[in-house]
Amino acid sequence: MTRAPIIFLIGYRGTGKSATARALAARLAWSWCDADELLEERFGKTIRQIFDDEGEAGFRDKEAAVLDELAGRRCWVIATGGGVVLRPENRAKLRTGVTVWLTAAPATIWERLQADATTAERRPNLAQGGLAEIEELLRLRQPLYEACADWMIDTTEQLPEHVAERIAAWLQGQGDPNIP
Ligand code: S3P
Repeated sequence: MTRAPIIFLIGYRGTGKSATARALAARLAWSWCDADELLEERFGKTIRQIFDDEGEAGFRDKEAAVLDELAGRRCWVIATGGGVVLRPENRAKLRTGVTVWLTAAPATIWERLQADATTAERRPNLAQGGLAEIEELLRLRQPLYEACADWMIDTTEQLPEHVAERIAAWLQGQGDPNIP
């Protein structure tokens, strides 16, 4: 199937979506965007503030609106938030482009999140927190990521540059006229 010229990177927090989106866009000479960054810009609040003021449901409404805006772009690589796959209408939008699912081992995700300075403002707890939350949500979300993904890549031992290189090689093999 020929898809719209847009690439969505999906996957749990800490799987390297933003750094990989930047590296992949540079390789393809496309633009890139972090959907969470755009959401914070559009609504003038950090994700943590949105969760505090409106709860997770308020955040998910805003996330869906931002995906709507982004899905119309052409020649962009989009790093999505880890929970974008929760709503069926979002999953349908992801399927209009090429969607690549980034995974990593739970312990690696936990280490990366602790080391990432954006975690405090971008990643409020969604359940009990810590490694247990990661394991639980990965189990729940795995079928949703799977339902959207055209391809999956494990980033556990890999730098974003290398992940981007492997995605670009896979894209070339697809022979889709819209995607370099
Ligand atoms: C979320 C992931 C975060 C952000 C929000 C909710 C999730 O994005 O959208 O904290 O539900 O997994 P990243 O995947 O960019 O960390």
